[in-house]
Amino acid sequence: MAKVISFANQKGGVGKSTICIQMAFYLSIKKKKKVLVIDMDGQGNTSSRLAPRVEDADYLFTPILSGTKTADLFGDHVGEIEVLKCPSGMDLIHATKNDPDLFEIETVQLDQAMNPAKHLEELFLNYDYVLIDCPPSLGRKLVAALVMSTHVVCPVKLSGFAVDGVEGLLNTIIGIKEGYNSYLEILGIVINDMDRSINQERAFKELEDSIPDLLFKNKIMHRPPLDSAVTEGIPVWELRYGHVAAKEVEAVLQEILERTE
Ligand SMILES: Nc1ncnc2c1ncn2[C@@H]1O[C@H](COP(=O)(O)OP(=O)(O)OP(=O)(O)O)[C@@H](O)[C@H]1O
Ligand SMILES: [Mg+2]
Repeated sequence: MAKVISFANQKGGVGKSTICIQMAFYLSIKKKKKVLVIDMDGQGNTSSRLAPRVEDADYLFTPILSGTKTADLFGDHVGEIEVLKCPSGMDLIHATKNDPDLFEIETVQLDQAMNPAKHLEELFLNYDYVLIDCPPSLGRKLVAALVMSTHVVCPVKLSGFAVDGVEGLLNTIIGIKEGYNSYLEILGIVINDMDRSINQERAFKELEDSIPDLLFKNKIMHRPPLDSAVTEGIPVWELRYGHVAAKEVEAVLQEILERTE
């Protein structure tokens, strides 16, 4: 059965898409696994980074998106689901850039958030891993993602309020687990984009004291090459100057895999 891993945090800019995209590359290219990525975020960043693309003379690229859209999965009926085959080997159920249909999903009835799980159950049998990039909110799309997940990873960027945010997020996840999906396992908190500021060190200590078991051993520091890799839509290990970033990212991805065992 596929391991279905959601990347979730209601805060924006913490690294959900970054880690999801790099994990998709890692599993498809390095581990030769069958991977499906579902873009639950109406910003469509993950879709544009993984999809086939045309590049113009200035090295700017336009993604070519086709097949079933994530927003379609919320309907009561979908026809046959058509995934988008990506050049790096993974399949994708996409969101367009600033997808109005997917943004609107936040207002649907709660029972409609159960539809994607129903529609995708059979498709999931074709994959080793399904990776779900969640939007920065605690709404319907997060419910939809967690209802069909076996595991959830929470990337966190440390700040003065990080600890409060993590508490709220964990409570929401536990609520969904208890209400709808007892199989859901919380893999833990990945600290991402960390610097060595006193504030961050303090926030880290606080998390270490309050949720030691949920905190990943490996963390990802602030690494500009990782930002470049994500912007270009390539694996971080392909950058010639990205060794340190690649090593940290791979350690985290490996820890995710170990924690799902
Ligand atoms: N460790 C890091 N070092 C440097 N830049 C990073 C790091 N992690 C992420 N970034 C950059 O920070 C920005 C936000 O990351 P990302 O888009 O992955 O966050 P997100 O949680 O998916 O945000 P959103 O909630 O808006 O979807 C991106 O430009 C990304 O390239
Ligand atoms: Mg994102």
